[in-house]
Amino acid sequence: MAALLSFLLIFTGLTGIHSITTVSDVSVKTGGSISIPCLYGSQYRNHVKYLCEGYYFSCCTYAAKTNQQNSKKFSISDDKSQRIFTVTINDVSGANTYYWCAVEIKNEGDVRQYFHLSVTGDRPSLSVDNQKVTGFIGGDITINCYYHNSGEMKWCKLGSSCVTTSSGSIGGTTGTINASVPNVFTVTMSGLKLESSGWYYCVKGDLQMPVHVTVFGRPSITKPLTPTPEHENLTLVFTSEAPTAQGGYPSPSDHLKIFSIRLSVLTFAVMVTLFIWFIVKRYSK
Ligand SMILES: *[C@@H]1O[C@H](CO)[C@@H](O)[C@H](O)[C@H]1NC(C)=O
Repeated sequence: MAALLSFLLIFTGLTGIHSITTVSDVSVKTGGSISIPCLYGSQYRNHVKYLCEGYYFSCCTYAAKTNQQNSKKFSISDDKSQRIFTVTINDVSGANTYYWCAVEIKNEGDVRQYFHLSVTGDRPSLSVDNQKVTGFIGGDITINCYYHNSGEMKWCKLGSSCVTTSSGSIGGTTGTINASVPNVFTVTMSGLKLESSGWYYCVKGDLQMPVHVTVFGRPSITKPLTPTPEHENLTLVFTSEAPTAQGGYPSPSDHLKIFSIRLSVLTFAVMVTLFIWFIVKRYSK
């Protein structure tokens, strides 16, 4: 039974997440712009992603697609290494407030997740100064989350953990929330690492506000010790050192490593099960 359970656990782990993770309700001012990140399972890395507009998914209309040109109002970009596609809506109006982040799947229902924009005439109920924040390795960043609604405050990493009122570990750093000033809570992430880059969000009550954090390394140019004639090797060295927004996220080779570890655990579990079955069969005779 335990073997079966572990088998199931490993199996679900192997197949990955079958859904999209995003924020659910974001406050935006009329005429403003908003970027929403949508996290997807690794099995959808090479699929077409799109933003769909409408309350019901069955009758929503395409707003942006990764295999089509972006428009002035809607844009979409897919960061395959982070497994996050980001949709941006410009000149937000109260006419359309329901959207779907979706992954196209041939001959099957598309995987999707909705989000809602709470469009306000004046200041939004939850906002930040800028949805893009940058920092340096070992340094700190602070983000002000302005609000005028009630409810719990949190700082979360998309698809991962959250920090509540006190401090806690988040994105490989220490995150602290200071709420001593009314109508704003300040998040500090200290001891930044390259892998702290990514999408986070402020939470206040029912609302969320996404913030993208980019951590830059010290500019260091390292030459390979043994010069290789292959171009690919050279670029590989430079890209692994270059501070990019995708820095520190699991690379395909990491996934391969995780996959092979899981595969060997699975093989071991199957062998143990077979062994137990063999013993039981032998003694029951
Ligand atoms: C929180 O912020 C206030 C105002 O900026 C500051 O005076 C206070 O020392 C901070 N508290 C902590 C625990 O950092």
